[in-house]
Amino acid sequence: MGMVTGMVTPGFDDLDLAWLEAKPGAKWHRHGPGRLAAWVADMDFPAPPPVAAALHAFVDAGDLGYPDWPEETPLRALFAQRMADRFAWTASADYVRELCDVVQGVQIALHLATPPGSSIALHTPAYPPFFRTSARMDRPILPIPAARTDDGWAYDHDRFARDLAADGGCRTLLLCNPQNPTGHVFTRDELATLAGLAEEHDLLIISDEIHADLVYPPARHVPMASLGPAVAARTLTLTSATKAFNLAGIRCAVAHVGPPDLREAWDAQPEHLFGVVSRVGVEATRAAWQDGDEWLATALGVLDRNRRLLRDLLAERLPAVDYALPQATYLAWLDFRALGLAECPETLLRDGGVVLYPGPEFGPGGEGFARCNFATSASVLEAVVDRMAGALLTV
Ligand SMILES: Cc1ncc(COP(=O)(O)O)c(C=O)c1O
Repeated sequence: MGMVTGMVTPGFDDLDLAWLEAKPGAKWHRHGPGRLAAWVADMDFPAPPPVAAALHAFVDAGDLGYPDWPEETPLRALFAQRMADRFAWTASADYVRELCDVVQGVQIALHLATPPGSSIALHTPAYPPFFRTSARMDRPILPIPAARTDDGWAYDHDRFARDLAADGGCRTLLLCNPQNPTGHVFTRDELATLAGLAEEHDLLIISDEIHADLVYPPARHVPMASLGPAVAARTLTLTSATKAFNLAGIRCAVAHVGPPDLREAWDAQPEHLFGVVSRVGVEATRAAWQDGDEWLATALGVLDRNRRLLRDLLAERLPAVDYALPQATYLAWLDFRALGLAECPETLLRDGGVVLYPGPEFGPGGEGFARCNFATSASVLEAVVDRMAGALLTV
């Protein structure tokens, strides 16, 4: 593959295709060699050097024994410190609970705080595991549909207010902020409107903020629970270091459990029911949050360039594909409908040697779309678009 000239960031743009194709993780392994993997939300970049160094030192120290955390892990204080430093939110370390992953936190909260049959309000299209959770747990989705604007995506919260009143059985607002797959970053005003509706209808707010560190200025992340004590008392905030620092394999996340009754129910469960985080996961998270911000700043610069590069490449080679620059994340929500394809675009693309995430898995509004992960080198991204054009323009 030829390099896109003038754009090389060492550690980010010098990815070797053979190295990528040999990776054993799901992203590159699942669909076999010979296909460029742009689907699941892992970045192609190697782990941040401070995290890799911390894990090497951890193993070299020779102690893989039990952790000495009789009461709590260091994650509680680390999370509270990071929220204060980055988002000026005074979170309470005492309210933090450890998790193996963010989706687990969604499921625990639904299980403990809402009855089967009650609905979940969700901005759609949305992260596919939310729909699988809804189906398995018998909590139907009340969609808040995305609408395309001139420069991004918006949600009609007046309509949501009417839908909520008509539904009658909604107990939960599952907020994903920044939103996956549109990359929308909710403003303080939007959050205040949603919080007001949650107050009016006594909803639990589950706020998945896993993409919060991946926001492109001038957009800014506002934690839902930072809006004030009343909002914090009905909000479960979920996050981890895994998206922003590319560590999804460590299986380590945190919940800030604002509602007192949910915290009580959570703590009343048998201690091993929800699993236990590992020392490796905690050490990787610590290194990322304490020592990884320089790497993160460089990564964000590369991703910012890539979201624009993807726009330019599509304009040149596949102009019928609609794409709004995301305000956050390294995920591009691509609309293929103007091509008038008879088949799901993702199937055609896979046959053409590039794997995107199929739009229909993101629920209502996903038909005719696919999600493209642009967290890769400039040259791989260029090859992804080339293969997309090859696959779609020849049908
Ligand atoms: C919105 C959102 N939540 C959760 C996750 C997954 O987090 P975890 O692996 O900790 O469940 C992702 C992964 O892409 C995501 O995009």
